[in-house]
Amino acid sequence: MRIVKVPLGNRSYRILIGRGLLPGLGAECSRLRLGRRCAIISDRNVAPRFAKGVQHSLEQAGFDSFLITVPAGETAKSMKTVQSCYDQLAKHRLERNSFVIALGGGVVGDLAGFVAASYMRGIAFVQVPTTLLAQVDSSVGGKVGVNLKAGKNLVGAFYQPRLVLCDLDTLRTLPAREYRAGLAEVIKYGIIFDAALFRQLEDAMPRLLKRDTKTLADVVARCCEIKAKVVGQDETEGGLRAILNFGHTIGHALEAISGYGKYLHGEAISIGQIAAAEISAIESSLPEVDLQRIRQLFRRAGLPVSVDLKRSEHRKLMKAMQLDKKVSHGEIKFVLARKIGSVVWGRRVSMRLISGALDKTATRKS
Ligand SMILES: NC(=O)c1ccc[n+]([C@@H]2O[C@H](COP(=O)([O-])OP(=O)(O)OC[C@H]3O[C@@H](n4cnc5c(N)ncnc54)[C@H](O)[C@@H]3O)[C@@H](O)[C@H]2O)c1
Ligand SMILES: [Zn+2]
Repeated sequence: MRIVKVPLGNRSYRILIGRGLLPGLGAECSRLRLGRRCAIISDRNVAPRFAKGVQHSLEQAGFDSFLITVPAGETAKSMKTVQSCYDQLAKHRLERNSFVIALGGGVVGDLAGFVAASYMRGIAFVQVPTTLLAQVDSSVGGKVGVNLKAGKNLVGAFYQPRLVLCDLDTLRTLPAREYRAGLAEVIKYGIIFDAALFRQLEDAMPRLLKRDTKTLADVVARCCEIKAKVVGQDETEGGLRAILNFGHTIGHALEAISGYGKYLHGEAISIGQIAAAEISAIESSLPEVDLQRIRQLFRRAGLPVSVDLKRSEHRKLMKAMQLDKKVSHGEIKFVLARKIGSVVWGRRVSMRLISGALDKTATRKS
C-alpha cells in the first residue's frame, strides 16, 4: 500500500493507494476517532458492486452504517439530491460526530462531500473513489459541490475529507471509456508538473491501458502526490492551484456547448489540452517536439485530440468561454506550458489566438 499525505496543518489527511483495501476501510475509519454512525452515499452502478463489502467492513470495526443510493451520472449532483440526502441523514439520526462515506466516482464524491460540509454545519467525511478520475483528481483537495441549472459546480465549498482510500481493484469494473477519460487527468499531471511522469506514461501506456496493478499503483500515487503538493501550497486557488486547470477553459466550454454527455469530461479536456499546447507553442515557447509528444500520448491513450467544429459551433464555443471566464480587452487568462513538466499560469491570451488554436487541432488531425 502507498500512503500520500495531504499537508494542511490540523486538517491534514492520508491518501491510501493499493489493491484489496476495501475490506480494511472499517479499521482505517476507527483510527479517525469518529462516532459510531455513518452514512454511505453511493450510486446505482457502484452500490450493487461494492456497498455490501464496505458495510461489512464497517460493521466488523463496530460502526453502524446505512446506505443512501443516488442515481448514476451528473444529474445526481443537484440540490434535489442534496435535499434527499439531508432528509435521510436526519431520519437515521446522524449527529455531529457521525460521518459520511462517499463511495463512487467524482459525482458521488462532490455530492457527498457537499452534504457532509453542510449537514449540521459540517460532519466528517471519507472518500472512497472508484473511478480513475476520482482517484487521481476529484477525491483529493476538498472541492465539493453541486450543479445549478445555470451551470456546473455553482454551489459548493472547500471541505477536506478525513481520509481517501483508493482501492485499485475497484477500477476493474469501470467501463473502458470512463477509464480512458481518467487518463486525460493523469497525462495532465505530467505536462503541468512532472516530466519524468510524462516519460513514464509514454513507456507504460500499453500496461496502463491493460490496467496493470503495479503500473496503476505507481501512477495513481504519483498523481496524488502532485495534487497533494499543489493543494498543500494553495488550498483555495489563490494562485498555484490554477495549474490544475490546464486545458480546462476550452474543455469546459466544449462540454457546455455540446450538451453535457456528448463528451466525457476527460475527453473534452483532452482536446482542451491539445489546444492549450498549440497556444503554448506560440505564446510560451513550448518546443514543437513537446507538442508532438503531448498529442501522441493522448492519442495512444485512446483520447480525442482534435475537434472539427462547424462555423456556428465554433462561434458558440468562443462565446461559452467568454461567459465562463472573465474576459478583459478580448483576452482570457490561461495556463500555458513552457515545456513538458513546467507551466505558467495567469497568462493573458487573445480570443483570436484561441480560435486559431482550435482550428489547428482540426487541421492537424492525423
Ligand atoms: N472536486 C474536484 O476537485 C473535481 C475534479 C474533477 C472532476 N470533478 C467532478 O467529478 C465528476 C466526474 O467524475 P467521474 O468521471 O468519476 O464520473 P462519475 O462519478 O459519473 O462516474 C462515471 C460513471 O462510472 C460509474 N462507476 C463509477 N465507479 C465505477 C466502478 N468502479 N465500476 C463500474 N462503474 C463505475 C458511475 O456510476 C458513472 O456512471 C464531475 O461532476 C466533475 O465536476 C470534481
Ligand atoms: Zn478535470
